[in-house]
Amino acid sequence: MTQTSPQRLLWRDVTVFDGLDSGAEPMAVIVEDGVIASLTPMRDFDERRADGCRDMGRGGVMTPGLVDCHTHIVFGGGRADEFEARLEGVSYEEIARRGGGILSTVNATREADEATLFAAALPRLDAMIADGATTVEIKSGYGLSVADELKMLRVARRLGEARPVRIVTTLLGAHALPPEYRDDSDAYVDLVCEEMIPAAAAEGLADAVDVFCEKIAFSVAQCERIFRAAEAHGLPIKAHAEQLSNLGGSALAARHGALSADHIEYLDQAGIDAMREAGTVAVILPGAFHTLRETQQPPIEALRRAGVPMAVATDANPGSSPLFMPSLMLNLACTLFRLTPREALAGMTAHGAAALGLGELGRLREGAPADLCVWNLDSPAELAYAVQPGRLRHRVFQGAVSHA
Ligand code: NIG
Ligand code: FE
Repeated sequence: MTQTSPQRLLWRDVTVFDGLDSGAEPMAVIVEDGVIASLTPMRDFDERRADGCRDMGRGGVMTPGLVDCHTHIVFGGGRADEFEARLEGVSYEEIARRGGGILSTVNATREADEATLFAAALPRLDAMIADGATTVEIKSGYGLSVADELKMLRVARRLGEARPVRIVTTLLGAHALPPEYRDDSDAYVDLVCEEMIPAAAAEGLADAVDVFCEKIAFSVAQCERIFRAAEAHGLPIKAHAEQLSNLGGSALAARHGALSADHIEYLDQAGIDAMREAGTVAVILPGAFHTLRETQQPPIEALRRAGVPMAVATDANPGSSPLFMPSLMLNLACTLFRLTPREALAGMTAHGAAALGLGELGRLREGAPADLCVWNLDSPAELAYAVQPGRLRHRVFQGAVSHA
């Protein structure tokens, strides 16, 4: 992948989706010094401004770079066998209870060294970059020991150094109960709070802390302890909540000022109200819903009515969402959950960035960081309407063009 050094770039006649909405008229866009220097309707564009610019051509659709705010792309092994078992009728929860599921990936991840994990994750990340991602969040959660969680986070950081993409790391120590703590989940939560979070914070390896609040994972009370520990270390929090049942994890997370509550198929009105009050983003994960053949829909209309921002992400992982293509999620969010294409696209730009606490990203406006994509399309809705790799014309990260 080549990355040219930053310079002044000019696109003419582009249809701009600014992260929340599409403009009605074609625009001229200049990027300079890593930021969007000007966004001007074509009819007002002074051609003298083209002097010294590299001509990036005419037409197409410009969007912010895609923000995939929820992934688990660092892992060892694979789980095609479980995919087959689920098709024969064994449920995701049953597989987890039998010691498979997340724990099978934990075994493979513990066995792998950093170089092996890095080599396995790189093509997954490259697929996302080729699909227009400029920011990708990566969670730990398949190590479940201090050393193995830190190992995963280190790999995530290295991925960000190897490619022109912003990697945001999240410590998900409370993803599953490791076998050595089978009979004492509170002791494992102690480990997360007293050792894992402090170590990740001390080494600067985690940008946030996440939990899996679910019957097959951690209780509301245990998640609350973890949130307190994260707060004590100045780390923002997130939650996998209301995916398989309604435990109230989203409301708890919101009360602790969480950046996001993710999955939320079983979210109720009290949870929605708490999220609205706290400004917590609802992260919609259609890939997991699709892969697990779930039937409980997230409460999209109620979230919309409440004005809770909805992000859309891949949840890319070896079990519940082995789908490494952000733009596919735009399509699934519309077909499965009836988001509008505009909402889906906002979910993977402006609201995806908000779910990471990076509000300055995910928007195209003058002065904003120049992370953007230009697509061979006539309208932004086509990005959600069709699933077609190869439509990315330009990808710009921090003001520099990279050709995927
Ligand atoms: O976001 N819900 C829990 N964790 C992941 C699944 C991880 C796995 O199955 O390996 C999720 O869906
Ligand atoms: Fe997840």
